[in-house]
Amino acid sequence: MTNTIIQFNNVTKQYDNDPVVLDNVSFEIERGKFYTLLGPSGCGKTTILRLIAGFTEASSGEIYFDNKKINNIPANKRQVNTVFQDYALFPHLNVFENVAFGLRIKKMKNTEVEAKVKEALSFVNLLGYEQREIKEMSGGQRQRVAIARAIVNEPEVILLDEPLSALDLKLRYQMQGELRDLQRRLGITFIFVTHDQEEALAMSDEIFVLNKGKIQQSGTPIDIYDEPINRFVADFIGESNIVKGTMIEDFLVEFGGKRFECVDQGMNPNEPIEIVIRPEDLEITSFDSGMLKIEVTSQLFRGVHYEITGVDHDGNEWLVHSTKKAEVGDKIGLHFSPEAIHVMRFNETEEDFDRRLESYAEGEADGK
Ligand SMILES: Nc1ncnc2c1ncn2[C@@H]1O[C@H](COP(=O)(O)OP(=O)(O)O)[C@@H](O)[C@H]1O
Ligand SMILES: [Mg+2]
Repeated sequence: MTNTIIQFNNVTKQYDNDPVVLDNVSFEIERGKFYTLLGPSGCGKTTILRLIAGFTEASSGEIYFDNKKINNIPANKRQVNTVFQDYALFPHLNVFENVAFGLRIKKMKNTEVEAKVKEALSFVNLLGYEQREIKEMSGGQRQRVAIARAIVNEPEVILLDEPLSALDLKLRYQMQGELRDLQRRLGITFIFVTHDQEEALAMSDEIFVLNKGKIQQSGTPIDIYDEPINRFVADFIGESNIVKGTMIEDFLVEFGGKRFECVDQGMNPNEPIEIVIRPEDLEITSFDSGMLKIEVTSQLFRGVHYEITGVDHDGNEWLVHSTKKAEVGDKIGLHFSPEAIHVMRFNETEEDFDRRLESYAEGEADGK
């Protein structure tokens, strides 16, 4: 039996004659995991949630839920509940009635409503707040009411559209932990939307990175952080050094005027590429023993590390996170391992990338 709960098959969404909002998007969501749709404003995240919830229709392509096509199933018949960005709570109802709302519509018996609402409120640590007015609740508490209102219906999937974006930073961190923990305890599939890469990395089992209506890359937080497949993902996921270079041959790359051993293969000889090295993967050494040699142009103390930038003799700028200090004007060396170099092909898509990885595996099998 398959574990897939939601599947998009070449889904395209276009409003009137506007440019397409989602461009031939395909993905699978497995039951019981925490998924995040991550991307800049306007890339199509909310549109994906609206398609899953049934608030809008696909222009083409198929959407499956539990292996059944649901393109024409109305929103109220789908096993999905949404937590909206502004929570959309009813201001004239108290906490209890806000959470009970869906159950009242289903004409559930009072005793049963009582039991279920209390259970949902206890999941979000709000027992005892039943009679409070919504306006008497803080931002974080409203957030929890909105979540209780979703889980009380026992949906198979909960959709969360940037639910933490209105909270201040400290509360936001706290709610990230709470949501993550809640998803684990409930075992319900969560599809969470954010434009904040740190939030996505901290919370998710799987991340879909979106840009301009296309999934750029999908994978675990570690996959995406360690192996961004293109410049957009590398740039969006965190502070990175992205430098142009040449793939001389398998396992040998040239940038900054020098050749380095690397772990990538399967490109054309002398193919122009871009490389990524994370600032924390660069180690400061003496100028003479440096694999790269830079002159320091700025230095900032960030509490846990120094943030140092410098320029190599090719004019590339390098960002270094180090516990060692360096002063502006210093000439320093940088050391890094072959694994720290991530090679990206220009315009490589996720499918191309997967195919390339598979061909490595076949190569290894052949070699035995
Ligand atoms: N009802 C609509 N009519 C026309 N265009 C829309 C509508 N809803 C969203 N869009 C457009 O679709 C694109 C993606 O929107 P959305 O999915 O809300 O992005 P995100 O949630 O990633 O910020 C945007 O360019 C937006 O203007
Ligand atoms: Mg949105």
